[in-house]
Amino acid sequence: MHKNGKGLDQSVDLSIDFCGVKSPNPFWLASGPPANTGYQVMKAFDAGWGGAVWKTIGDPIVNVSSRYGAWDMKGEKVMGLNNIELISDRPVEDNLREITEVKKRFPKHTVVASLMVESKQQTWHDIVRRAEDAGSDILELNFGCPHGMSERGMGAAVGQVPEYATLITGWVKEVAKTPVIVKLTPNVTDIAHMAAAAKAGGADAVSLVNTFNSLMGIDLNNFTPRPYVGGSSSHGGYCGPAVKPIALHMLSSVAKHPRVNIPISGIGGISDWRDAVEFMLLGATSVQVCTAVMHYGFRIVEDMIDGLHNYLEEKGFHSPMELVGKAVPQVKDWGDLDLNFKVIAKIDAEKCIGCNLCYIACEDGAHQCIESDARPLGDLRDGVIARHMPRIMEDHCVGCNLCALVCPVPGCITMKEIDTGRNSMNWRQLQEARGKSPSCSMEELLASAKRAGN
Ligand SMILES: Cc1cc2nc3c(=O)[nH]c(=O)nc-3n(C[C@H](O)[C@H](O)[C@H](O)COP(=O)(O)O)c2cc1C
Ligand code: SF4
Ligand code: SF4
Repeated sequence: MHKNGKGLDQSVDLSIDFCGVKSPNPFWLASGPPANTGYQVMKAFDAGWGGAVWKTIGDPIVNVSSRYGAWDMKGEKVMGLNNIELISDRPVEDNLREITEVKKRFPKHTVVASLMVESKQQTWHDIVRRAEDAGSDILELNFGCPHGMSERGMGAAVGQVPEYATLITGWVKEVAKTPVIVKLTPNVTDIAHMAAAAKAGGADAVSLVNTFNSLMGIDLNNFTPRPYVGGSSSHGGYCGPAVKPIALHMLSSVAKHPRVNIPISGIGGISDWRDAVEFMLLGATSVQVCTAVMHYGFRIVEDMIDGLHNYLEEKGFHSPMELVGKAVPQVKDWGDLDLNFKVIAKIDAEKCIGCNLCYIACEDGAHQCIESDARPLGDLRDGVIARHMPRIMEDHCVGCNLCALVCPVPGCITMKEIDTGRNSMNWRQLQEARGKSPSCSMEELLASAKRAGN
């Protein structure tokens, strides 16, 4: 273990440049309980975190008790976390004074002041000036909080209306001297559209995602949703490992959008260095973590630093900046995928334990391409149980992956590429070859419906 990255090969430098601000590494605490006080942020920096986005600062609120709920999955705790907590309940001046103290002790670390105030130009001007005077390096505008604050015309209430997002970002940019990140809510139809709205207001960067609207579950005995607040509950924000694939998709859509093209801070279910690398490959320059720190503590950054360092070294990179966006070109529209690429399932008989799960999955849930013979593993008269021996019908297998996904033995079912003997052809090319239009826009659909008299 190389605490804080000390003792690692010096040819790799983990520092990043985010909108001109240097950070010792791309790992930042996301705005939330772990970045609530100067004490915590200093402890996190001592542990190795490169930056911290302060718990959102604004007019102090009053929280309810209780306020968190978790989604456990077959023994795995907190795969998803839901909260009905609001922004900081601490006075603005306490938060700002502690930002100054943190910056004094850690001048090279990145402190981002997350801000949310009522939607008035002067109020935004005031808070921006105060946060910058306190010494924050970057501002993050919280346009994402999905509960409580949105009912007061802040948070997601701003982040869900492009005109408001552009307007308020513009107010902030009128006075800001430091870079401005707009933090986006995932609770919209098209997050890339909202990122473009933030850019139109002058945002220097965007961060995503904030939490997803969710209702955590119902107590079957008292018929009350969780988390329990004196006989009732409310919808809240969902995050943690369970949201990662959705966050990755949203990130890629923002990274690809031609009207955005500004740095991105990636957030949503990041728990280890591999998750962080995936976010960077899809366009994030820095990554932010909340739930994993709430679950396991600041120490997780030690493995993140080691893992990222070793990965970069192994791949021959010198900086995490070289990773940013490398996977974006490979995210394509479905219509651009090669219809003639084919894989089929192969079972390693040596590894197979005869559980029959692949057979059942393919038989009932896929394409009936696995045969399963029950074969005794010895003499049945000795009490030997028959073992199922699955066999793939290769000519029928469509290569859907399902059997490999359900097989409990690592490496037992693999998907092998086969040569179809056909040249690559995607759906658009196929449509063109058939003399049909490769795309069908909503306008065309509406026009043809009109022609048909619908
Ligand atoms: C309890 C809790 C409180 C949060 N408070 C804030 C907040 O004050 N401001 C903010 O911008 N995001 C807040 N978030 C959202 C996180 O910053 C982050 O966007 C989200 O949790 C997704 O990251 P994760 O999956 O690593 O937790 C909060 C999240 C949690 C779990
Ligand atoms: S890949 Fe899909 S179709 Fe092929 S054997 Fe597995 S489950 Fe069946
Ligand atoms: S799921 Fe895997 S281990 Fe189980 S029968 Fe199929 S191949 Fe064998």
